[in-house]
Amino acid sequence: MRRKLAAGNWKMNGLRADLAMLETLRAAHEGCAVDLLICPPLPLVAAAAEACAGSAVAIGAQDCHPEDAGAHTGDTSAPMLADAGASAVILGHSERRADHGETSDLVRAKAQAAHAAGLVAIICVGESLEQREAQNTLDIIGGQLSASIPDTATGENTVVAYEPCWAIGTGLTPTSEQIGDVHDFIRARLERRFGAGGGRSIRLLYGGSVKGANAAEIFAVSNVDGALVGGASLKADDFSPIINALADEAKAS
Ligand code: 13P
Repeated sequence: MRRKLAAGNWKMNGLRADLAMLETLRAAHEGCAVDLLICPPLPLVAAAAEACAGSAVAIGAQDCHPEDAGAHTGDTSAPMLADAGASAVILGHSERRADHGETSDLVRAKAQAAHAAGLVAIICVGESLEQREAQNTLDIIGGQLSASIPDTATGENTVVAYEPCWAIGTGLTPTSEQIGDVHDFIRARLERRFGAGGGRSIRLLYGGSVKGANAAEIFAVSNVDGALVGGASLKADDFSPIINALADEAKAS
């Protein structure tokens, strides 16, 4: 049984004062039936990890460098994130692929570094609107999966997030059928590569305009093990209904 995961990606949002929401979150969801993770911007990772120590809320980062140390001004390595108290790192988000030209080969190298540092790598894949309209979605996702996921991946150290680029921050979401088609495809690919046991143990998150109003419907889709939430993870009032919908689904399934 895969434990469900509600993950928040704060992106480039949040100052120290915003860490107060973590207190609300941990108080509201102590003993929660699902895993909780917040990935704040880098300057807040250590303070967030300290604020959430011993609670149900884990802290992650949004990127890492493939090397452990060296002359790479402005970059942060996976061991540094682990040292700061992070237990996970988002890799290959479409915003990094677009803004920084990150390739799947680079994402794989980063994921390997994350695994070596004991971090869970949350590896993102997703198609653009043009690619979906050209009916290339599964080809694109298949290529991203093979190249971005390292051989070191297991159910313990890897999570895959399906985030269609056109659904991110737009209020648009795919239909349940579209989400199910991609998640079933990802599951089949993972089972083919890592065997039935390994492939079935890796959690699959959906991301892109998840909110309280659509969460239950999305979480009922096959092979959806949780969500990677952007905008709606910034405030406890918005994130809590999503967590509750996932906990309800966990109890029902
Ligand atoms: P939104 O939930 O704001 O659409 O962002 C999704 C996302 O990119 C999470 O990584």
